[in-house]
Amino acid sequence: MAILVTGGAGYIGSHTCVELLNQNYDVVVIDNLCNSSAEALRRVQELTGKALSFYEGDVRDEALLTKIFEGNAIDCVIHFAGLKAVGESVFQPWRYYDNNLNATLVLTKVMERFGVKKLIFSSSATVYTADNEMPLKETSRTGGCTNPYGWTKYMTEQILSGLCTADKTWGAVLLRYFNPIGAHASGRIGEDPRGIPNNLMPFIAQVAVGRREKLSVFGNDYDTHDGTGVRDYIHVVDLAKGHVAAVRYAAAHTGCEAFNLGTGIGYSVLDIVSTFQKVNGIPVPYEITARRPGDIAVCYASPDKSREVLGWQAEKTLEDMCRDTWNWQKHNPQGYGE
Ligand code: NAD
Ligand code: UD1
Repeated sequence: MAILVTGGAGYIGSHTCVELLNQNYDVVVIDNLCNSSAEALRRVQELTGKALSFYEGDVRDEALLTKIFEGNAIDCVIHFAGLKAVGESVFQPWRYYDNNLNATLVLTKVMERFGVKKLIFSSSATVYTADNEMPLKETSRTGGCTNPYGWTKYMTEQILSGLCTADKTWGAVLLRYFNPIGAHASGRIGEDPRGIPNNLMPFIAQVAVGRREKLSVFGNDYDTHDGTGVRDYIHVVDLAKGHVAAVRYAAAHTGCEAFNLGTGIGYSVLDIVSTFQKVNGIPVPYEITARRPGDIAVCYASPDKSREVLGWQAEKTLEDMCRDTWNWQKHNPQGYGE
């Protein structure tokens, strides 16, 4: 069975390629490398001892996609390709809507033409409104996004849901990720953000390795056990395995279905800092600063539906996430170095 992985050179995509190859799927990747490195794919093949096919290019390029579908008997598509920096999306809305929405439109158009109607989409917990009760269930309220990035996820969910309503032979799985962190246990692949990291764990890792002086903890006056923000952090390898479960589910189902990929456990910023320090025996200097605009106090998933319907659940601990992040960072202080 052949899976087309868009954005397969990226952080989550590369880890998913490893799990797919380990399960003996044929893997075809399209990525324009706008936020990643071909070295990641070289290492995926080195880790698994298996080859994948790589096409460097843009998912919005219909001619290239046509060539890929002509040359490979694709059964299912996992669609990671997208821009993901929340703050940047506020300043470059057109670029985000163009990239993230047009990629999905062109991709599904070509899939339809080749009769490939199984799609797994990288959605996000950001589609849930801020006023929901925790834990977030797939039936919790969505919409009311506060930035263009979030809207692209919400709108893509609507596009895929509409496709499945209109044509009952389509199957779309919307995977709503919570906070992916960590790296492959080998330390060979991991998250390699360009510029100053926006997210907590890559920032901590860069402080630990000496690339940044200290972490700013954005607010300690939230209504949480220690005043800092609480999130549902999930190991990227668990997340990757969730995609393999989704591929199996998609093969047997039509219609559009959303699933949370989270652990169901919330940890605070200071929980993460202290666990990272303890597990790795390395200091992470930090200071408390003002809240970051747009942040909420608490966000965590109900993973029940994924466990019951996909037969998947996260297995790795926060200690695993901190240890594997550091193992990747210390062996690759400049990431993939490109
Ligand atoms: P990433 O930036 O590491 O990977 C995305 C990949 O897509 C990159 O390799 C990039 O080069 C490629 N890409 C982007 N636009 C493209 C285009 N038009 N054509 C071809 N390739 C293109 O990001 P990631 O963390 O691996 O995230 C993967 C997906 O999951 C994204 O859609 C992201 O929005 C979503 N997501 C990520 C998180 C997270 O915290 N990392 C959380 C929720 C959802
Ligand atoms: C962010 C995005 C969200 C996206 C998710 C993907 C924002 C506002 N939200 O979520 O839309 O889906 O990433 O993973 O950008 N923190 C610090 N110091 C830092 C960085 C973060 O204290 O330098 C805190 C934050 O206030 C938050 C927690 O760490 O409490 C996690 O932050 P982050 O990793 O950015 O993820 P989210 O805000 O959950």
